Amino acid sequence: MNCSYMEKENARKKAFESIWNNDLDAVFSDVAAYYDRANIFASLGLMNSLRSRFISTIDIKPDYKVLDVCAGTNAIGIKLLKKQQNLTVYAVDRSIAMQKVGRNLAQRHGFHINGLISDVHHLPFPDNYFDVVTLQWATRHLRVIKVFSEIKRVLKPGGYFYHCDMLRPANKFIEEIYCLYLKACLPLIARAFRSGSTSLKCQPYFIQSIRMFYSTEELSHVLLELGYSNIIGRSILGGTVAFHKACKT
Ligand SMILES: C[S@@+](CC[C@H](N)C(=O)[O-])C[C@H]1O[C@@H](n2cnc3c(N)ncnc32)[C@H](O)[C@@H]1O
Repeated sequence: MNCSYMEKENARKKAFESIWNNDLDAVFSDVAAYYDRANIFASLGLMNSLRSRFISTIDIKPDYKVLDVCAGTNAIGIKLLKKQQNLTVYAVDRSIAMQKVGRNLAQRHGFHINGLISDVHHLPFPDNYFDVVTLQWATRHLRVIKVFSEIKRVLKPGGYFYHCDMLRPANKFIEEIYCLYLKACLPLIARAFRSGSTSLKCQPYFIQSIRMFYSTEELSHVLLELGYSNIIGRSILGGTVAFHKACKT
């Protein structure tokens, strides 16, 4: 692995490890009930179309076994089952509260998603198990190299990893505007949805985690260095969001 990526991972771990280990579960317990509505608010209404765009990049066939990593409220699993009902979908997330909301949402749509509560740095699945693995809106909270390696381990040869997240814009000017927007928007969301004290405390983290994160091109290189192939990274909205697709050969 390229030294600069290892350094970035070490710096992210050093800066955020305490929040990842001690605060994030409380944040997602707090936001679980209003997570989907808050996302629509924060994205100025773009969230549903971003999710649909991500889903449209995913090639899915009947009988595929799919894993959604950091599945939260099961938004991806539900959308995939709407696209192709004949799938076996697994969801893994550490937050009991987010998965409880997700289980109810899936049931309301008449779908079954196999939910597991687990930290995703060790995926509780055998090698070469899934045709498709997805990961959306969560990688900023993870040790990227560890989780992307785990995803590669559980993918079948020829299987695809689809990734979507808020990334660090490659353009410094856009990064500054974006961070100013988040700085203004996060307190409004906190007030509108009456966030708890841990969520309030973590507001600077949500901005800093983007500043210390990867750009679209950097994330493509990380995937390449981990041995993925056929990598496509496409950024939108000035590089604030990107979709990646990568194959395990
Ligand atoms: C912003 S939500 C994204 C949820 C979902 N993927 C979506 O698209 O809406 C981030 C999720 O990542 C989960 N998460 C963060 N760190 C985790 C870890 N180390 N292991 C498992 N889940 C984690 C949180 O519990 C939360 O549900």
